[in-house]
Amino acid sequence: MGLFDNMLRSDQTLIKNQEALEYEFLPKMLPYRDQEQRKIAALMQPLFAEKSGRNGFVFGSPGIGKTAATRAVLRELEEKTDDIIPVYINCWNKNTTFKILLEMCDCLDFKFTQNKRTEELFKIIKQLLNRKSAIFVFDEIDKVEDFDFLYSIIEEIYRKSIILVTNYRDWLTNLDERIRSRLLPEMIEFREYTPAETRGILGDRMKAAFYPGVWEQDAFDAVVKKTAEIRDIRTGIHLMKEASGIAESRSSKKIAMKDAEEAISKVSQFHAKDTGELEEDEQFILGIIRDNSGRKIGDLFELYGAKGGQQAYKTFQRRIEKLEKGRYISVKKTEGGKDGNTSIITFGQMRKLTEF
Ligand SMILES: Nc1ncnc2c1ncn2[C@@H]1O[C@H](COP(=O)(O)OP(=O)(O)O)[C@@H](O)[C@H]1O
Ligand SMILES: [Mg+2]
Repeated sequence: MGLFDNMLRSDQTLIKNQEALEYEFLPKMLPYRDQEQRKIAALMQPLFAEKSGRNGFVFGSPGIGKTAATRAVLRELEEKTDDIIPVYINCWNKNTTFKILLEMCDCLDFKFTQNKRTEELFKIIKQLLNRKSAIFVFDEIDKVEDFDFLYSIIEEIYRKSIILVTNYRDWLTNLDERIRSRLLPEMIEFREYTPAETRGILGDRMKAAFYPGVWEQDAFDAVVKKTAEIRDIRTGIHLMKEASGIAESRSSKKIAMKDAEEAISKVSQFHAKDTGELEEDEQFILGIIRDNSGRKIGDLFELYGAKGGQQAYKTFQRRIEKLEKGRYISVKKTEGGKDGNTSIITFGQMRKLTEF
């Protein structure tokens, strides 16, 4: 009867290439981002003539290929020349000057960083880079806590392009004027993908990751539809991974509509349940931030007290940190300027379904 023909053996899998389901996976081809890649590459053009390059500010919502496109340009540059050194840093974890300089040394294969102070590290980097030209990409630049590294690079590395990448267009407006006026970056906006482009990208990814024919057409269509709705390719990749896991767990050789539906409902549920994980006081604070998004932390603390909040400022600060870690809110530190040294707290916005 062939009752068991459609069952996977325990040593079988639907996935041909697990790596292709990682978010950091950089496909060989990056369709629909030709223009953006050209704009980024054009910034570096003067470096080929041993002049100083131009700078760029790459922005657009999450999961639409900013990181992928920028890295693809660097990859091509590396294949083309040894005279321009690419330095790519993701500031998500490397969010202080010291950490960034350490990471740069690592990029440059300089190993003797132990016990070195910030200034010493920068001196080494400067020596290494000033022999040639350099291109710096600081991805997720909105996560950095101080800008000394940027200032030093602007002032002391001679032939370079600096590219800042972020999900927030407005981030630049709040950047220290001294730095902004020296950078004068070209604005490179990434628009969201159309549904057809989303289908194209996910289709390529499916082919790279899965054995042929394992996806039922309607299941794949459902993933595409959801991804196009959320407009974030990362969600689509996550859904493909989830759905295939669900199919495998029932030993199916096919990923069917019900697997896709289950994966999609998990993603949606996650969103609904996640504020439930917060403690009452944190929920209370989150509510205040939602209604007063974009205010200074001190003002929010006053509101918190006025509305009956009981905790001291230190505790309040810790809650803010936790909410930021959970990406319920974003925190932007300002230095100087009209607000002095404080933090501006913004509700939600960065929290997307893909950030589990
Ligand atoms: N044009 C594209 N072609 C192929 N894959 C893409 C494309 N755009 C985005 N991706 C993939 O989607 C995922 C999210 O893209 P990413 O560059 O990380 O987004 P962002 O940096 O804008 O948040 C990555 O896995 C990336 O490889
Ligand atoms: Mg990115």
